[in-house]
Amino acid sequence: MPLANAFLTRDQFATEFFYELRAACCRRCMLVQIVDQPPRDKMFHDRYPFFSSSSERMQIHFAKLARAVIDHHSAGGDPLVVEVGSNDGTLLEHVALAGIRHVGVEPSASVAAVAAARGITTWRRFFDESVAADIVDRHGQADVVVATNALSHVGDLHSVVSAIDRLLSAKGVVVIEDPYWAQVLSRTAFDQIYDEHASYFALTSIQRLFEPHGFVVFDVDPVDVHGGSMRYSICRAGTRTPSPRVPALADQELTIGAFDASALAAFSRRVDAIGANLIELLQKRRRGGTRIVGYGATSKSTTTINYFGITPDLVEWICDTTPAKHGTFSPGAHIPVRPHDEFSRPYPDYALLFLWNHAEEVRAKEQAFAQAGGRWITYVPGVDET
Ligand code: TMP
Repeated sequence: MPLANAFLTRDQFATEFFYELRAACCRRCMLVQIVDQPPRDKMFHDRYPFFSSSSERMQIHFAKLARAVIDHHSAGGDPLVVEVGSNDGTLLEHVALAGIRHVGVEPSASVAAVAAARGITTWRRFFDESVAADIVDRHGQADVVVATNALSHVGDLHSVVSAIDRLLSAKGVVVIEDPYWAQVLSRTAFDQIYDEHASYFALTSIQRLFEPHGFVVFDVDPVDVHGGSMRYSICRAGTRTPSPRVPALADQELTIGAFDASALAAFSRRVDAIGANLIELLQKRRRGGTRIVGYGATSKSTTTINYFGITPDLVEWICDTTPAKHGTFSPGAHIPVRPHDEFSRPYPDYALLFLWNHAEEVRAKEQAFAQAGGRWITYVPGVDET
């Protein structure tokens, strides 16, 4: 499998990096993880092309999360909010506007530069104990540590939790938000599985990760982003009263068998069935001479395209709004990526919706495509044509 975000130019084809993509569940900590994780500096570097602000829905989500952080956890004194994996500053911008002290820690220069240009204090480093110690030296301990869609990107999880332990004040709160394994499983959202997502968390695995460090999860909230995520609110043991939602969710995870070998095997069979159905549909439509364009050069699409064997014969090109991806080719299959403006010039007959997690936003934006007779092909939780 190539790296999900390694969109490349023709001269890079010969040196493209591939690795073995396999996920497994640990029987002791119930954590689902990628077995052979690629080196992190191959994934998060100066040209990292994912910008949090690229979706309006995500902008609204971050505005709401910032409000919750400010209202519930930043009261009194002169609080400090630290975001781990702060990307282009979409969340911290709201914190900064509220006049709250903040530090974003972000290793990828491309996105960190955008945050810095927005006036967000951004440290361009991988978050670890030495960064935590430097923040404490410079600004004191943090009242809130936020990490959205970031912990799942980390290979050495215990080092990050140790760093959080070093950084967080005695009564501080950690807010973690990541794609939720039980949702990935129940929706057969197999394309969430790619190199950058080293871990697929559930409450049980978050508890087993944080508890040995003296933390407890005191609340959980499902959030409808990234195809189904969970927000975990975590504090030092004994500093807050846990919500009854926490044991209820832990029970539910066991009841649905979210970590059972049989559930994982059934998931794998469903994925293969989706692949066979999707390829059959694409081939059938292409035989009829129709044009199929991919919609959204997403990281997830790299798994779908390469695991199922989708080629440029089936999907002509992929439209995308991120300028850094324009004129590149998709990882592995080398399907051209072109600006979104070209989607309507002229509209294709079919659009394969790689951005299925933004389906509502996309359909609302692309009503003219449907009115022109265009049809959407989707494949999570199953293959569909509308
Ligand atoms: P991701 O799934 O890896 O986060 O990538 C999302 C990509 O989709 C990103 O390059 C921006 C692009 N995009 C569109 O092209 N149109 C849209 O409406 C949205 C929301 C995203």
